[in-house]
Amino acid sequence: MKKVEAIIRSDKLENLKETITTSGLVKGLSISQVLGYGNQKGFAEFVRGQRVIPALLAKVKVEIVVHDDSVDEVVDLICQAVRTGEVGDGKIFVSPIEEVIRIRTGERGGDAI
Ligand SMILES: Nc1ncnc2c1ncn2[C@@H]1O[C@H](COP(=O)(O)OP(=O)(O)OP(=O)(O)O)[C@@H](O)[C@H]1O
Ligand SMILES: [Mg+2]
Repeated sequence: MKKVEAIIRSDKLENLKETITTSGLVKGLSISQVLGYGNQKGFAEFVRGQRVIPALLAKVKVEIVVHDDSVDEVVDLICQAVRTGEVGDGKIFVSPIEEVIRIRTGERGGDAI
């Protein structure tokens, strides 16, 4: 199992939700608002060598836990749904998930996703 964590532009959330829902690959997701910065330190352009204090930009974080064999497809779908081609489109992190427990039933692992 893997967690796909995508930090995206807030105004792309609806697109992403629609694409993900239509795909039928995803059983659940969590969304939160985050502040952060990337390579441009929160500015439209970053002049090399210039000292800047990073500005924190509001983005949306989408967390989706999936079976290993769905990761590539889910990552592709997210990219398709949210890419504009401009800086600040966001980033996707993929990490291993050790265990999942469905609290109601006690199911564990892949069955609990
Ligand atoms: N290395 C990182 N670790 C944690 N969060 C990050 C990292 N890089 C980016 N983020 C988060 O993702 C958001 C979007 O990042 P962004 O798309 O600007 O990345 P980037 O690497 O600068 O790519 P680009 O050059 O396309 O802008 C940031 O505002 C921040 O919240
Ligand atoms: Mg950036």
